[in-house]
Amino acid sequence: MSKLRNLITGTTRVPLFRGCLAALFVATCAISGLADAVMPDRPLDVPYEPTHPKVVEAMLKLGKAGPNDIHYDLGCGDGRVVIMGVKKFHVKHGYGIDINKQRLREAKERAEAYDVTDKVTFLNADIFNSDFSKANLITAYLLDHINLKIRPILFSQLRPGTRVVTHEFHMSDWRPDKIDRHPLARGERISLWIIPAPVGGEWEWSTSLKSGAVNASMKLTQEFQDIAGTVQFQGSAATAIRDPKVEGKSISFTTRGVVSGKAVAVKFQGTANGDTITGTQVWSGGDLSGTYPWKARRKAANVLGRWRIDIPQKNIFNGVLNIRKEGPLKLVASFFGKDGNMEIRVHDVYLWGTSVYFRLPLSYFDYVLFKGELNNDGGAGKAYGMKVKEDYKEGIYDPPTVTWNSAWTATRVR
Ligand SMILES: C[S@@+](CC[C@H](N)C(=O)[O-])C[C@H]1O[C@@H](n2cnc3c(N)ncnc32)[C@H](O)[C@@H]1O
Repeated sequence: MSKLRNLITGTTRVPLFRGCLAALFVATCAISGLADAVMPDRPLDVPYEPTHPKVVEAMLKLGKAGPNDIHYDLGCGDGRVVIMGVKKFHVKHGYGIDINKQRLREAKERAEAYDVTDKVTFLNADIFNSDFSKANLITAYLLDHINLKIRPILFSQLRPGTRVVTHEFHMSDWRPDKIDRHPLARGERISLWIIPAPVGGEWEWSTSLKSGAVNASMKLTQEFQDIAGTVQFQGSAATAIRDPKVEGKSISFTTRGVVSGKAVAVKFQGTANGDTITGTQVWSGGDLSGTYPWKARRKAANVLGRWRIDIPQKNIFNGVLNIRKEGPLKLVASFFGKDGNMEIRVHDVYLWGTSVYFRLPLSYFDYVLFKGELNNDGGAGKAYGMKVKEDYKEGIYDPPTVTWNSAWTATRVR
């Protein structure tokens, strides 16, 4: 019992067991009739384990916490992360969200002790039903599968450029922009992700060279912060972009082409804002060399609505995808199998411009992952049968195995 009490009052560092400890915690409290005061309103998705202060500091450094930031800690425990944020990094305001009232009491006491009560707010709320859209810095010490569950919510609420820092746990196939090793962190690892601007689609611009204007277009596909595609200068063949990088709103890549019969290499660097990219292009190629402004516009594309998805080699998964927006960013999607053989609410769905990504969960260990492009009347991509490894090791991202893959096409359902 004393161990349990320590666990409840948070005076002992307890190891994290995926989910089980939370269930045990609630069940044991219920049986022993322990005070309501320490009972969260619903089972915890992640048991309490505080982050070591040196790791908290390293996380805030990795997230470049500063005076312009609105910071949210998802599952804030005793509030140590947001309190250090305002105290040591001069964050404008820190919000901590937790469902455990006892933790929130401790957080408020801590804020008083550090004299920062006007700069922090603690909210008794479930992270899955919270609005943290005004954040430009998020920290979290959750669990792998909870990160995966919160991932689409991050994309549906946070603006491009928002930093997300985790203690130990990963975001599955969304690779971190940076990983820092820290000997006191669980798994010796803290990671940073930056919400990428959605840049998938077709773009056009014109460049005023000394010899006259040259039109150009580019086609980009995107998966999280990774982009690929081609640039085509007027009168020249399309060439692949190289060294592409999207970091928040910033986009850069190089390409080669032939303009007015001359070979050129061009380095593009810009800032993406909705359907516009503004920046510079540095041209190398004889008398065409120079630095020019770059202002690209994305061609209008409608990707929302109902789409008939056909997978010729796996037609058991043929069906209709219905994808719509609730509010400015939140996506909601459902998938209806052919002949009514399945109807699935798709939780993990993303649109980056015209690039789409969604998973159809089949069982605890299997899902179908769809990646591709949707644009006005048609679409195409690849579907992957995925199997999650059952002997998955905590803290080490073990990619699921691809059991099959097949092309898909999409046609709009009117
Ligand atoms: C591992 S602790 C991290 C505490 C703090 N962020 C830190 O790093 O020191 C996870 C916290 O998440 C809280 N939690 C678990 N499930 C939650 C949920 N669905 N919504 C909000 N908080 C939750 C727990 O009460 C616990 O305080």
